[in-house]
Amino acid sequence: MSRTWENLSLRARLFLPMLAMILAALVLGGIALKIVSPDQFEYETGQQAAATQAVAAALNAALATSGEPQRTLAAFSSALGSGKTIAFRSVGHSSDRPAMIVPSHVPRWFIALLDIPELGAVYPISIGKDHVGDLLFTPDLSADIFEKYVGFLAIVGSGSALMLIAALSVYFTTGTALRPLERLQEGLTRMRQGDYDTLTPVAGPPEIRRSCKEANQLASTLKRLSLDNRGLIRKLVSVQDDERHDLGQELHDELGPLLFAIRANATALSDRVADDPEAASAVHGILQAAENLQQVSRRILEGLSPLHVKELGLEQSIRALLGNVQAQAPRLKLSCRIDASLNEIDGLLSLTTYRVIQESVTNVLRHAHAGAIDVAAEITGAEVAIEVADDGEGFPPDSPFGRGLRGMDERVRALNGSFALLRDGGRTVVRCRLPLAQEAA
Ligand SMILES: Nc1ncnc2c1ncn2[C@@H]1O[C@H](COP(=O)(O)OP(=O)(O)O)[C@@H](O)[C@H]1O
Ligand SMILES: [Mg+2]
Repeated sequence: MSRTWENLSLRARLFLPMLAMILAALVLGGIALKIVSPDQFEYETGQQAAATQAVAAALNAALATSGEPQRTLAAFSSALGSGKTIAFRSVGHSSDRPAMIVPSHVPRWFIALLDIPELGAVYPISIGKDHVGDLLFTPDLSADIFEKYVGFLAIVGSGSALMLIAALSVYFTTGTALRPLERLQEGLTRMRQGDYDTLTPVAGPPEIRRSCKEANQLASTLKRLSLDNRGLIRKLVSVQDDERHDLGQELHDELGPLLFAIRANATALSDRVADDPEAASAVHGILQAAENLQQVSRRILEGLSPLHVKELGLEQSIRALLGNVQAQAPRLKLSCRIDASLNEIDGLLSLTTYRVIQESVTNVLRHAHAGAIDVAAEITGAEVAIEVADDGEGFPPDSPFGRGLRGMDERVRALNGSFALLRDGGRTVVRCRLPLAQEAA
């Protein structure tokens, strides 16, 4: 029951009690009519009944003293004529109590509702000891009943009119309140979806207008917070990139000469120990280790700061990255669609594009067990669209976010972009959009 009430609209909640009130008034009116009217009818016909009784007594007395009672009775009866209320009925006709007279144009159910008691009366007329007939009193209730019926119609009519007026006023008042409420709700939904710029129109009754104003201020506060937040993430990301860059530079500058020295010295040594196989093999081991160390350091440096994005341009850098991937996994079927106009973007946007692709393809190599990978990066409309899809086994069912995906998500959010991991027709897809126009943080 309470659930049904909860689901009722505001309009229905206002209408229903009103309808109940009107119905209750009608029922109570009917009950009052039923209780009061029998007494009223009895009171109103009582005097006529008494008068009829007196006429009967007078007639009986006249007949008792008359020399020709039959003629007196005939004269009385014909003088009475065919009156409806008082009439003479001679013996031998029916002996029913007379029915009352009711108006023909009032519905039966209404008359039944009035609960009218038996009001007709029969007064016996005798000559000597013989019962010769009866004087009948038939009450005429037409006027009374009609009056009550008109009263009843008036109550029902005015009740319905009142109800109609109230219903219309509820309909329009709630309408003026509900429309602004709906707009407010739409405004809140927009805010939830991240649109803080479209304002909610301030309209409706004062209470709702205040709420609309508050919602608009909330939107501007949220907008400021979101900008601050984005600025902070962006700062964080670029601080991180600077740090990596410095670290990479340092590693490069320190390791490079040391590695060179090891190789140069080992090479010099190898000439001297050519005739000692054991020493020659040890020197060869050193050279091999130095070679491996150089490869490892190159890989780490590449991860730390992809220097060539600036020098080569984004398109070439991505192609170089994919070339490396192909070299690492020669059996992987790699296809790509890299837009040459990507070279026109620079700074954080191009680095982010590179990082997203780098992390995605690394993930495919490490986790997906895929046979094919498809990389697309292009400028569509006002954004960079990146998509890396593989035909591997897909993300694990629980939340997959590790260091790599989280970092990607942060970078993308710093640029107000969107980032989604999906499974689409048997393919695992990382889809990312970065707006070209970056608001000043
Ligand atoms: N292309 C992919 N196919 C299947 N699983 C993936 C793919 N990319 C990522 N994952 C899953 O998501 C997890 C988190 O990835 P990530 O955040 O990059 O962390 P990491 O690579 O360091 O494990 C991975 O451990 C892996 O289980
Ligand atoms: Mg990863």
